[in-house]
Amino acid sequence: MVATKKYSIIDTETGALDRRIFVDEDIYQEELEKIFGRAWQMIGHVSLVPNPNDFFHTYMGEDPVILTRDNTGQLHAFLNMCRHRGNRIVRADEGNAKNFMCTYHGWTFSNDGRLEHVPGVSEAYYDDLPVDELSLVEAKVDTYAGIVFATWDHEAPSLEAYLGDARWYLDTAFNRRASGTIAVGPMKWLEPCNWKTPVDNCSDNYHVPVTHLSSMIAQEKVQGRGRVTQERQFLNSNFNHMFVNGHALTTQELDDDNEDSPRYFHGVTQDNVHQFRDWQREALEHVEERLGTYRARKLNLTNHSLFPNGVLGFRLALPRGPLMTEFWHFVVYEADAPEVIATALRTGHGNNNGAAGLFEQDDIDNWRQVSLSAVSPIARKYAQDLSMGVGRVNGASKLPGEVSERYISENNQRNFYRRWEEFMNAESWADVPLDPITAEFEGTATLHG
Ligand code: FES
Ligand SMILES: [Fe+2]
Repeated sequence: MVATKKYSIIDTETGALDRRIFVDEDIYQEELEKIFGRAWQMIGHVSLVPNPNDFFHTYMGEDPVILTRDNTGQLHAFLNMCRHRGNRIVRADEGNAKNFMCTYHGWTFSNDGRLEHVPGVSEAYYDDLPVDELSLVEAKVDTYAGIVFATWDHEAPSLEAYLGDARWYLDTAFNRRASGTIAVGPMKWLEPCNWKTPVDNCSDNYHVPVTHLSSMIAQEKVQGRGRVTQERQFLNSNFNHMFVNGHALTTQELDDDNEDSPRYFHGVTQDNVHQFRDWQREALEHVEERLGTYRARKLNLTNHSLFPNGVLGFRLALPRGPLMTEFWHFVVYEADAPEVIATALRTGHGNNNGAAGLFEQDDIDNWRQVSLSAVSPIARKYAQDLSMGVGRVNGASKLPGEVSERYISENNQRNFYRRWEEFMNAESWADVPLDPITAEFEGTATLHG
């Protein structure tokens, strides 16, 4: 059945964006169903549940979710809702448990979801309770390079199809080495903005030299790192901005002298940059086997977002009402990273993009004001302007996806809101367009590592 188009919030010819989508409660409720009830979302990492019977408490949209590894090693994601009256059956952030007893009346579920025990099943329920039909509500789960994804919609396409050609780029950050990665976190905090604003911001490199000027001056003084300037951004053709199967990415192409350049930004200082370079250089041949020459040596993933709410790596913008976002910050790095690198990455990411991070504080203030502007009926008469680079797409680019002609562009943002429309106007997954995988995945790396 073809869905009746209901939302038309972005004019991709003019870049005009309707601000109602940031404040309207009815739209928000529909997002929870049609986007967070349907899309694949990052919920965890295999390193957070390494052993049989481990569990980790997480969220999909507003829904509390228990990620478990059952005693056979299989991963599951369950709605944290007792099938009796709805009490949460897990109150801890993480742990190791074979089963979960609801603390209201004692119904007990195994970590593979089955309802194992009901007090008084004979005496109170006369053995009439359909116990087999009262398992925990289970989401579909898959992993990409150790990151666990889940969707409530069992009709959803595979995770591989959902990521599509975006994985060709993501591999350069998350799938470099056979050692795999570990995730450290989460650090959690509330941001008084709509969840879409931080996601949109991941492709907005236009703001970096302005918003983050004071942070970059501080970093220049203390860490000896060069500043990002507007001149460098506007004129450097080594940087790219592309929209790939619903996901927004930006990349840097490294020149021959910089193939060993750190694939990380935060945590790298003038004192440790040689350690990062040595570590990168030693692994280049190994990475080349896994990803092919171009992706291993030349391609550096920079700011990016995964639809709907994945922000810069494994960081999440979890919706908490139209004007509130719960932010989750994980650091993901290679499991075989030497301790000096791991420490630099943990502290560097926290110092920049943690709750008290220099860059994060700069950003949050902008996001808050942008979302709040939509509260005013006067301001809502005037659309957001996302017109930068309309029609300027590089049709000749050999890179997968829709590549903007210039690095500084709002093409990804227009496409992000168009993707939002596609989800919101669809009756089911059958109405949501998905691009076929066309990139050539050179090397031995796979979806699962
Ligand atoms: S609500 Fe869980 S046992 Fe009653
Ligand atoms: Fe920023």
